[in-house]
Amino acid sequence: MARIDRQGASAGKRAAFARDGFLVIEDFVPAAECAGLRQRAGELVDGFRPPADATVFSTRSQSHAADDYFRTSGDKIRFFFEEDAFDARGALTRPKALAINKIGHALHDLDPVFSRFSRAPRLAGLAAELGIAAPLLLQSMYIFKQPEVGGEVTWHQDATFLYTDPVSVVGFWFALEDATVENGCLWVLPGGHGSGLKSRFRRAGAGLEMQVLDASGWPAGAARPLEVAAGTLVVLHGLLPHYSGANRTPRSRHAYALHVIDGRARYAEDNWLRRGPDMPLRGFAP
Ligand code: FE2
Repeated sequence: MARIDRQGASAGKRAAFARDGFLVIEDFVPAAECAGLRQRAGELVDGFRPPADATVFSTRSQSHAADDYFRTSGDKIRFFFEEDAFDARGALTRPKALAINKIGHALHDLDPVFSRFSRAPRLAGLAAELGIAAPLLLQSMYIFKQPEVGGEVTWHQDATFLYTDPVSVVGFWFALEDATVENGCLWVLPGGHGSGLKSRFRRAGAGLEMQVLDASGWPAGAARPLEVAAGTLVVLHGLLPHYSGANRTPRSRHAYALHVIDGRARYAEDNWLRRGPDMPLRGFAP
């Protein structure tokens, strides 16, 4: 596996990323910065007032209102609940701070703490090393993977959701707490980015649909868990199949994910994520 320290040579990183479809860079984020992001996420959650019917914001609700809340979140800071945080009548079974699945999807532009972190020179430098010539910061998510109710994220490729032609999206996934198999770490199929895009999640009429491009299964190969310590950065190629399991432990597994595309590629008009005209995509410049 490509475990590289921060001083690792550029050529080595590029070669490992091209071969495996992912990179694991330990000690990328100092402990104090991990704590700072966790604290800021907590403040944002404190300021969020969920309505009486919070199921609207469930990650897997099929309702039109839930669709709408998600679909218009590309240029906002919004809160999505864990599906398992509700009882049969739709009431939250735990405090909101332990019920939120994620915050998305424009933290990196709308929140000063996340903007500063997302535009750190070391990250811009890494993106350049990986060959992203005209980086645009497209999407950000603070992922809680809450104790006991943290839901699984099924196998997928990020380019399914954030499509450009050619595919250019790269995911930067920062562990803000230790991630283990037990608390829902990432799993990857090493080299699986070579087998093409399987599907596209896109706008269709007033709704959203999953368009299947290749109905064959995921490439055969051993799925590998990426158990990493807090402060580790995992870089994911947009075509690399990955997933994360549920968290049934008493410990959370916070992470921050930033998705970057290359401005030289054409952004698909029918991607779910859209920006208003007053919020054009920006690069790493502060
Ligand atoms: Fe993903």
